[in-house]
Amino acid sequence: MAHPTLNGKTALVTGAANGIGFAIARRLAEGGARVALNDVDLDAARAAAASIGPQHLAIRADVANEAEVERMASDATTALEGLDILVNNAGVGDGAVPTLAQSLAVFERTLAVHVNGTFLVSKAVVPGMARRGGGSIVNLGSIAGQVGVPVRTAYSVAKAGVAMMTRVLACEWAGRGIRVNAVAPGYVETRLVAGLIASGKLDATRIRARTPLGRMAAPEEIAAVVAFLASDEASYVTGAVIPVDGGYAAFGGPCDASGEFSAYDRAKASDSSDSRPSADGAPRPLAPDGQRP
Ligand SMILES: NC(=O)c1ccc[n+]([C@@H]2O[C@H](COP(=O)([O-])OP(=O)(O)OC[C@H]3O[C@@H](n4cnc5c(N)ncnc54)[C@H](O)[C@@H]3O)[C@@H](O)[C@H]2O)c1
Repeated sequence: MAHPTLNGKTALVTGAANGIGFAIARRLAEGGARVALNDVDLDAARAAAASIGPQHLAIRADVANEAEVERMASDATTALEGLDILVNNAGVGDGAVPTLAQSLAVFERTLAVHVNGTFLVSKAVVPGMARRGGGSIVNLGSIAGQVGVPVRTAYSVAKAGVAMMTRVLACEWAGRGIRVNAVAPGYVETRLVAGLIASGKLDATRIRARTPLGRMAAPEEIAAVVAFLASDEASYVTGAVIPVDGGYAAFGGPCDASGEFSAYDRAKASDSSDSRPSADGAPRPLAPDGQRP
């Protein structure tokens, strides 16, 4: 698929040294944008920026720290001669701790990075964007902000806050030519999720079974939707929180969503009239017993 054109655009991506943020920065760069990659880890951000090309830069700031955010916005605006695109991606996990055992410090820090960070960086960047005639902000939500996920109280509340901030700011800044949207990913194969799987707090097999598409996302699949929202091709899209979750939040069946025990497969076992096309579009051949495989 051709990348949406971002030629001549400039972008700031927070938390861009790793995972989804890095995939977004790379995808925006591939579309033609010059990108400032923010992270708390400056060395990693520098390495990430260098890996996508010499015209991109790294800027250190903690998105939850107002003074650091204001300096970052000013430095990025000066270096790139203005900002057209902001992606509020920086994020932290909450440790997936049962609510009764969760500390106030972790709860507050989780909200500070996701909610305060999105608020502060947007606020710092929008006046300059408006002076240029407008721009596009894309926030990172999550399925955890859409459906209740036990033991993820802090993270879920933070992502629900990001989703609502997306709608509020879209309405507030539309008159300045600034669109504000969010993506709400399901489980994505990044170090954040790998850490939860490694510590036994997430079960990869159960995630796949609970996801209609039967797998986790690659960071590039989130980046593709962010690049579309950032581009002029999404010129009439604002205030949207778009699920990029393999069907996770849409699924409400009383069974696994994919695989051996999915509703489809169980129904298929008692229904020989399956005319679902095969992967190449042709009708599925009947098995020797007359059933469709
Ligand atoms: N991985 C998933 O399955 C998933 C699903 C839904 C949403 N998300 C969201 O996507 C975003 C990226 O997640 P990821 O999985 O790529 O995580 P990651 O841990 O791989 O990368 C996050 C990056 O943000 C940086 N960062 C953390 N706190 C920061 C701060 N205060 N200021 C600046 N940078 C900071 C980290 O150093 C890191 O480079 C997050 O907002 C996350 O909540 C992730």
